[in-house]
Amino acid sequence: MLELLTPPPADPLWELAAAFGADARPERLNLVLGVYRDHTGATPVMATVREAEIRLAEGSASKEYRGLSGNPAFNRAMLSTVLGTDDLTGRATAIQTVAGTGALRLLAEFVGRTRPGATVWISDPAYVNHRPILEAAGLVVRSYTYLDAEGRADTAGMVHDLRQARRDDVVLLQGCCHNPTGVDPSPDAWDALAELAGRHGWVPFIDLAYHGLGDGFEADLHATRTLAARVPELLIAVSCSKNFGLYNDRTGCAIVLGPSRHALRHVETSLQNIARTLYSMPPEHGAAIVATVLGDDALRAGWRTELDVMRGRITANRADLVAGLSALGCGREAEILAQQKGMFSTLPLTADHMLTLRERFAIYGTTSGRINIAGVSAHRIPYLAQGIAAVLGAVEAPVPAA
Ligand SMILES: Cc1ncc(COP(=O)(O)O)c(C=O)c1O
Repeated sequence: MLELLTPPPADPLWELAAAFGADARPERLNLVLGVYRDHTGATPVMATVREAEIRLAEGSASKEYRGLSGNPAFNRAMLSTVLGTDDLTGRATAIQTVAGTGALRLLAEFVGRTRPGATVWISDPAYVNHRPILEAAGLVVRSYTYLDAEGRADTAGMVHDLRQARRDDVVLLQGCCHNPTGVDPSPDAWDALAELAGRHGWVPFIDLAYHGLGDGFEADLHATRTLAARVPELLIAVSCSKNFGLYNDRTGCAIVLGPSRHALRHVETSLQNIARTLYSMPPEHGAAIVATVLGDDALRAGWRTELDVMRGRITANRADLVAGLSALGCGREAEILAQQKGMFSTLPLTADHMLTLRERFAIYGTTSGRINIAGVSAHRIPYLAQGIAAVLGAVEAPVPAA
């Protein structure tokens, strides 16, 4: 059997991460993967997460199997945290998943089993794993315009393309802090999308992976809640990887909203049925942490404060990079960057520029120009700005060492 194997295409992100690992230059900067780093360059365990872990360890919780939907307290907490009001939680079902990726895949399977071969629209550009996940579930993928030539949100282009979406289609949207661009639709654009979905009957599918890291926790949920209130059916894939820092605990959930409680009667068992053949049930630890944090007023408030600190650092990093680029004569690039938010930014650089950044300055971003703005320590921003300005020809190297 093994001789039949042909090498699959390498994962471009993990390939770059491995190249970074093998790079011995002291000035190297890893801006490839979406991981928050503090001012020391570490990805810390949040204090409230640590406190919840201590409580869980002292409570000597059993390791007995959970049901197929995972941790019920986690699912309830996620519903009320994401949707906010009883009106919305009353017409929604949540099932714990193996992080955001697991939620995307579970919901993709759910769409595929309900409407085999359905078309799902994704943004152009899209999160690198959207198309593979959807295609793996047998769905047909089409793209809608997302940015204009200047790297700004292109609402008119988006609405124009999505007018072609049919009643049986699904439209995948990122709820906030769009990966890879860092550009989100305006509130008016979200209204237009809700109106379009209502009129044409397609189902919005929201990928929510960065709430709390853009404009603020509630503000980052505004688009999701707007759509939830205005369309009869909505799918949401939620990740706790970034905003709880639970990257390797693989924690997330899949939410399905229907027009009424009654309409949801087969949803949970259908999702369970899919999960059963994929991984049976999700891992408990991360979900128990989130349920503990969200179920305790003091811990929840502490977690929100920690999240605000993370968001503040990301925002300050971006502002410093914008200022650094402006000072080095890269006004156009600075202006584009200034409109972006969240962990990622897409630099208006070519694949060649990105290669030069890597080869000459050991600055690692993706070939599409995406960098993790949360991955730089503040004192390294001038180096990053100078590297970018140098590949654009605005300043001469040398670039200061690390
Ligand atoms: C847009 C988006 N969705 C989903 C995910 C999946 O996150 P995870 O599976 O780690 O929770 C990511 C991770 O980078 C992402 O950027």
